Amino acid sequence: MESVSTEVKPLPQLKIGDYTMEVPIIQGGMGIRISANGLAAAVANEGGAGIIATVALSLASRYYQKGKDYFRANIKALIEELTLTREKSPKGIIGTNCMVAIKDYEAMVRTSVENGAQMIISGAGLPLRLPEFAQANPRAALIPIVSSLRAAKLLTKRWMKLYKRIPDAFVFEDPNVAGGHLGVNRKQLFDAQHGSDRVVPELAEWSRKECADEIPIITAGGVWDRKDIDHALSLGAKGVQMASRFLCTYECDAHPNFKQAFIDAKEGDVVIIDSPAGLPGRAINTNFTRTLFRGGPVADHCFATCLEYCLCREEKEAFCVAAALHSAQQGDMTKGLVFTGTNAIRHTKMMHISEIFNELRLGLPACS
Ligand SMILES: Cc1cc2nc3c(=O)[nH]c(=O)nc-3n(C[C@H](O)[C@H](O)[C@H](O)COP(=O)(O)O)c2cc1C
Repeated sequence: MESVSTEVKPLPQLKIGDYTMEVPIIQGGMGIRISANGLAAAVANEGGAGIIATVALSLASRYYQKGKDYFRANIKALIEELTLTREKSPKGIIGTNCMVAIKDYEAMVRTSVENGAQMIISGAGLPLRLPEFAQANPRAALIPIVSSLRAAKLLTKRWMKLYKRIPDAFVFEDPNVAGGHLGVNRKQLFDAQHGSDRVVPELAEWSRKECADEIPIITAGGVWDRKDIDHALSLGAKGVQMASRFLCTYECDAHPNFKQAFIDAKEGDVVIIDSPAGLPGRAINTNFTRTLFRGGPVADHCFATCLEYCLCREEKEAFCVAAALHSAQQGDMTKGLVFTGTNAIRHTKMMHISEIFNELRLGLPACS
């Protein structure tokens, strides 16, 4: 009898601007030092793009002293993280995630490109001025995060008009499954209209047919195993951005207690909170969220003045998101807010990044 080949096709490379990744996987930036030099370098060494999240990077660094110059400390901490990542991954592709909604957005972009970041991924608002802030290195790939075709079109038109430049890629983040702050309001959440199965093919078709140079579409949210990557590629995406999958790894930069929270989490433990940034956020139901939902006191003092507009600082409503996320990163599971994608409850044990990439390359069943 003729044998049926079960060979798995190699993952395609992903070319964005001047950079070619061996595998089409970008590690999603995870703020307040969940993705810093440890995780970013490990992913870059596996042939993906390793991304340092810049928001409030100084809080768990030697540069930050309460009440002192938080923004200066962020710059120093970012330079240090970029340097360490490059030392650990001399040849890998490394970049940063810069959120439009943070006060030092411009400084984070400028510091990134001046200190070796090869790509800037930018969301939590439309990064309309990104090319201007990144001009010190025209080779840096500029990648906006969008949640609709409309946003992608608007941004491309604006960049062309002002900077004669188009985005090097778009990340589409599926709000129905992604972690952290979500790009739609509560009413729009869980509507299939805003999900990747609907929006990624639209974006891919527009990019192929209407852009002079095809802009690669990267999909983010809910990508866990090789099957999910193959599905994303079949929708027209050229690559994926993955974050939750990398949380329970030895290389992830958070405290072991933070990682254990995912291993302990069960079905039904993922909740939606209202962040002081004015966006919904997805998190694990912990002591923090339970107290928040009861109206009890949680992180009620502005800790870092990090957001451009903040319901905690300006309106004395909500809570300090920097303080809550920082506590979790430090392993304080009583006070900490643990951002997550819907998938993170699938973690059952700690792994190395190299093991996960091996699975993804070879199409092995996820061993979590
Ligand atoms: C703990 C955590 C922190 C995050 N922080 C950021 C961030 O600082 N900036 C950002 O653009 N996205 C952030 N995200 C979103 C991820 O980069 C990614 O796009 C999303 O989580 C993808 O979905 P997945 O987690 O299902 O893979 C965060 C996600 C998680 C889980």
